[in-house]
Amino acid sequence: MSARREPLPPGPRALPVLGSVLDYAKDPLAFIERCVREYGDVSYADFLGEPTYILQNPEHIEHVLVARHRHYIKDKLQRQLLGGRLLGKGLLTNDGDSWLRQRRLMQPAFHRQRLATYGLVMAEHARRMLASWRDGEVRDVYADMMRLTLGIVIKSLFDLEVEGEAEAVGPALGRVMEHFASVQCLVFPEWLPTPENLGYRAAVERMDTFVSEIIQRRREAGAESGDLLSLLLQVQDEEGNRMSDRQIRDEVLTLALAGHETTSITLAFCWHLLARHPEVEAVLHRELDSVLGGREPRMEDLPALAFTECVVKESLRLFPPAWSISREAVAEDEVGGWRIPVGGVVVMNPWTVHRDPRFFEEPETFRPQRWADGLEQRLPRFAWFPFGGGPRLCIGVGFAMMEARLVLATLAQRFRVERAPDDEVTLMPSITLHPKHGVKVRLRAR
Ligand code: HEM
Repeated sequence: MSARREPLPPGPRALPVLGSVLDYAKDPLAFIERCVREYGDVSYADFLGEPTYILQNPEHIEHVLVARHRHYIKDKLQRQLLGGRLLGKGLLTNDGDSWLRQRRLMQPAFHRQRLATYGLVMAEHARRMLASWRDGEVRDVYADMMRLTLGIVIKSLFDLEVEGEAEAVGPALGRVMEHFASVQCLVFPEWLPTPENLGYRAAVERMDTFVSEIIQRRREAGAESGDLLSLLLQVQDEEGNRMSDRQIRDEVLTLALAGHETTSITLAFCWHLLARHPEVEAVLHRELDSVLGGREPRMEDLPALAFTECVVKESLRLFPPAWSISREAVAEDEVGGWRIPVGGVVVMNPWTVHRDPRFFEEPETFRPQRWADGLEQRLPRFAWFPFGGGPRLCIGVGFAMMEARLVLATLAQRFRVERAPDDEVTLMPSITLHPKHGVKVRLRAR
C-alpha cells in the first residue's frame, strides 16, 4: 500500500535531493520574492529534503510566532549552524526551559530605568564619532556605525570601553557572515576540514579571544557595577551553582553580535537613504533644529523627535536587518489551511512582507512620512515586524530604537550627507541583511 501523500502548498520546482537549495543560494532575496509573487501567502520549497513553508500573510505569521509559539522552536539551521561553535546556547539560539531561565535573568538589564543610563552612553559615543567626521570627506558609514554600536553595547551591558581587541571583531564577523551566505555551509557539516570551514573556525576563534578578554577584564575590575556581565558572573541557582563559563561566553557573544550589527545596519541604511533623498533630509533637519535648537539630544527629547523615529522605522521597513525569521515545528500545526508536519520549517520574511503593496503604498519608495499618522496602529500586527514578535521578540528592541534615534539625531544635527561616487550598495543576505561593501556617503558640515 502506498503512503498517503499530503497535498502541499504551491512552490518552485525542485531538483532531486538538493531541492531548491542552489536556486536559493544564487540569490536568496530573489528566490523568496518569486515564491511570494508566483505562489501567494503560503508557498512550499524543499531544501535538501527539509520541507519548508514560506509565509507572507501577517495573520499566519502571528499564528506561528504568538498563538502557536509552543509548537515551534528555532529551526535546525539556526540551532546547528548559528548555534554550533558560534553562539552555542546564547539567548538567540537557545530554546525551552534553559532559554526561558536565561531570558528572565537578562530581561531586567533592558528595563526602562536601565535604558536611561544607556542613553547617556549612546549620546557620549555618538559625540566622539562626530569629532572624527570632516566636512567634504567620503566615508564608509557602515564601518563607522559598526564601530560606534559595538562600543555602545559593550559599555552599556558590560561596562567596558572597547579597546584593541575590537579591531579583530570586524573582519572576523565579516568572515562569519560570508560563511553563512555560502552554499557550502548548507552542504558540508561544520566539522569537515574544508578550506571554507577552516576559515570560519579561525574567525570564530578570533571572536572567542575577544569575548574571553571582555570576561577577563570584567573579572579583574572586580567591583559589582550592576552591569549585565557582572550579573552573569555572579548569578547562582537554588543549589548555588554558577553559570558555566561556556554559557557566559555564549551570552556575551550573542549580546555583542546581536546587539551591534543589526543597529549599525539600520543606521547605515538611514544615511544611504537620506543621501538619496535630500527632501526627506530637509524635513529631518527642520525637526532637529526646532526641537533641539543646537543642543545635543537626550533621551527626554525622543518623544518630540517624531520624524526622526519615522526615518528609522522606514529604514527598518526597506532594509530589515533580520530579513528572514524561521522556526521548526515540534508539534503538528495548520497554517492557512495547510498542514505543517513535525520537522516542517516555517519561514517568515520581513524582506517580502515589508514590501507587500497590500500594506504599504508604493512599497519600494523611501517615504518616512507614511509612519507619521499612526500607520503602525492601522497595520496588521505582523505587517511590519523588524524585531520579530511573541515570546522571542528581540530583547533589545527598546535599546535599539533609542540608540538609532539618538545617534541619528546627534550626527544629522551637525552633518548633511550627499551621494558619493560608486555609492551603489550590494546586499548580502546572510544571518543579517547587510551591505557587503559598506555604505559610502559624502559628509557636509551643517
Ligand atoms: C535594529 C536593531 C535590531 C534588530 C532589527 C533586531 C532584530 C531581532 C529579531 C528579529 C529577533 C528575533 C529573532 C527570531 O524570532 O528568530 C531578535 C532577537 C534578539 N535580539 Fe535583536 N535586533 C536588534 C537589536 C538588538 C540589540 C540592540 C540587542 C541587544 C543589546 C539585541 C539582542 C537580541 C537577542 C539577545 C535576541 C534573542 C532574544 C530571545 O530569543 O529571547 N538585538 N532581534
